[in-house]
Amino acid sequence: MRIHIADHPLVAHKLTALRDERTDSPTFRRLVDELVTLLAYEATRDVRTEPITIKTPVAPAVGVKLASPKPLVVPILRAGLGMLEGMVRLLPTAEVGFLGMIRDEGTLTVSMYATRLPEDLSGRQCYVLDPMLATGGTLSAAVELLIDRGADHITCVCLLAAPEGMAVMEEAFRDAHVPLTIVTAAVDERLNDKGYIVPGLGDAGDRLYG
Ligand code: PRP
Repeated sequence: MRIHIADHPLVAHKLTALRDERTDSPTFRRLVDELVTLLAYEATRDVRTEPITIKTPVAPAVGVKLASPKPLVVPILRAGLGMLEGMVRLLPTAEVGFLGMIRDEGTLTVSMYATRLPEDLSGRQCYVLDPMLATGGTLSAAVELLIDRGADHITCVCLLAAPEGMAVMEEAFRDAHVPLTIVTAAVDERLNDKGYIVPGLGDAGDRLYG
């Protein structure tokens, strides 16, 4: 598993504003959108392309277009939905699938309440969107499902990650035959006893939509 921590002053600046408890929901949504676009730039570094020849007003030129089959973007409801627009702005031709997952506040176990994905993901590059990688229960279940359906290249875009969640992902997909990357704006200190990332930014779903 590859981990990419976006090291950029604009990412750090926007993340700081997101963390601030005084940031209201409309501003929080706008910042998530902007931050995701910056992370998407890194996350799509390996997006597959194929050569194409076009004509400029002056001469023919060889360029690239996104390869087929088109990439699949998968926001994990509910908080991942806040990341969708920022991602598809860079990948406007991507297909979008949805996973609804909820973490029990007490036991921290995860259940999947909605799945709207193509049955066959053979040969597909997938981009999973979830702002928080805390215990890793949610993201590992999502990635497992995508691998089961045949995805052959998976990139997860998170705003924040905890070391505990990173370790769970590392362990779960140690022997995976699929290239797996996690792109995040930061890895924080730890989880608290309620499974929240510390210092974190609170409950992303509530701050976006609550
Ligand atoms: C939060 C968050 C992640 C998940 C992370 O979602 O958005 O999806 O928890 O936790 P984990 O790594 O410990 O699994 P939540 O279940 O609160 O649902 P929501 O997005 O609907 O608010």
